Amino acid sequence: MNRSRLTLAAALLFTTSSLSYAQLEGSKADTTPTTHPIPAIQDSETAAQRDARMQWWREARFGMFIHWGLYSIPAGEWHGKRTDHIGEWIMNDLSIPVADYKAFAKDFNPTAFSAHDIVALAKAAGMKYIVITAKHHDGFAMFNSKVNDFNIVSATPFKRDPLKELAEECRKQGVKLGFYYSQSQDWTAPGGSAAVRADHNKDTGHWDAAQDGSFDEYLKTKSIPQIQELLENYKDYPVVVWFDTPMKTMTPERSAEVVKLLNHYPNLIWNNRLGGTFKGDTETPEQFIPPQGYPGRDWESCMTMNDTWGFKSFDTNFKSTEVLLRNLIDIASKGGNYLLNIGPDSKGNVPAPEIERLRQMGKWLTVNGEAIYGTKPTLFGAEAGSFSDTEKDKAGKPKFIPTWNWRSTTALDKIYVEIFNWPKGVFHLTNSPRGITGAYLLADPAHKPLKVTNSGTAVDIQLPATPLNPIATVLVLTTTTQTATR
Ligand code: GLC
Repeated sequence: MNRSRLTLAAALLFTTSSLSYAQLEGSKADTTPTTHPIPAIQDSETAAQRDARMQWWREARFGMFIHWGLYSIPAGEWHGKRTDHIGEWIMNDLSIPVADYKAFAKDFNPTAFSAHDIVALAKAAGMKYIVITAKHHDGFAMFNSKVNDFNIVSATPFKRDPLKELAEECRKQGVKLGFYYSQSQDWTAPGGSAAVRADHNKDTGHWDAAQDGSFDEYLKTKSIPQIQELLENYKDYPVVVWFDTPMKTMTPERSAEVVKLLNHYPNLIWNNRLGGTFKGDTETPEQFIPPQGYPGRDWESCMTMNDTWGFKSFDTNFKSTEVLLRNLIDIASKGGNYLLNIGPDSKGNVPAPEIERLRQMGKWLTVNGEAIYGTKPTLFGAEAGSFSDTEKDKAGKPKFIPTWNWRSTTALDKIYVEIFNWPKGVFHLTNSPRGITGAYLLADPAHKPLKVTNSGTAVDIQLPATPLNPIATVLVLTTTTQTATR
């Protein structure tokens, strides 16, 4: 094992109607204990070991998801037909034959790809880690794989390994790197799983005879060996393995074969999408922010900036910097991480609206990062919103109605209040959980003290007439030292 680390992750049913993992997942963390054929690290480590293993990740708060692969060539459109679903699913959604899809490889020459620039962009955005699609459901490996030649080095004119280049840059620039790997779905390898669409085989999800075969054979000859390559060939990376769409094929026994490998890397962090009842380390709410986080579990909301993960040439529905930044703050206030996606095009260019938004977020974080990184969740709670008495969500439960006036994060001797909706005159807290000894605005270089008036547990802080930043201005309350939450 050529790594410096010490030597040494619910069977899901995908059906036509359930397109996204988010819909399948619900929003409640499953904390029922289970026994596994092979115990995973989470089954045996102590709470202290777990805290040590998760520490960097918990402090990081903000990461970059990269969905990049062959699907960036059709970019949402094939033979004049546009998909209205996420771009990386085009092969499945339009039932593109295997040979036709594989033929994209000979045209994949992303000469504009720059690992340096992408890592620098992540840094400029204030992101502490990157997770890139090493192999998505289409089965195309974005890395130098010796076990299967449908990969970027062997099958394209590009012949370079972007994961290796990213690993080098991440090392240089001090950003952590993780790999996404679709362990179960593989639409171009015989035996790989596939989500069922209307014209697909109802059992296998396949639409092309070239997809038929044994899942065990696929697991043994492609999925597991490629996961092993990813774990072994990039020195101190990956620090995260991000599994996806386990499907019913990932039984506890099959998933345990993957766990055997993962167990060799005791610092590794992996998500809750391996399958086989392995819960992994992290809950992965997709395209939503859980109203109250997941008490007792680490979690990471993964989200797109527009409406697709993989590049689609005609998706220009970008969220504003204001929405993205407030999402990050909202997530931090609930104790989670934000994994925000970019989808480079087939030349390797990151779309300009994504670059622009990330840079703007980074500017805010440069000044206000202290209120985000390494902080603990809010000591309040009601500021995030409340559950409706009348409206129901998709699951039939009371709908959460967020309010966007302010959020709060916590340090040992400080309470940060990220104010979205600037109040006139004073910021009022009816019930302060700690004694407030002083206040200032984080973006004020002089940290000029603001007038604090305590009356019982209520506090008023005198604010200037206008906010320092219209998206979010951080009010810092210095407090009597307390042990932080969590
Ligand atoms: C999904 C989709 C996928 C995307 C992922 C990101 O479940 O299948 O295309 O990569 O979510 O969370």
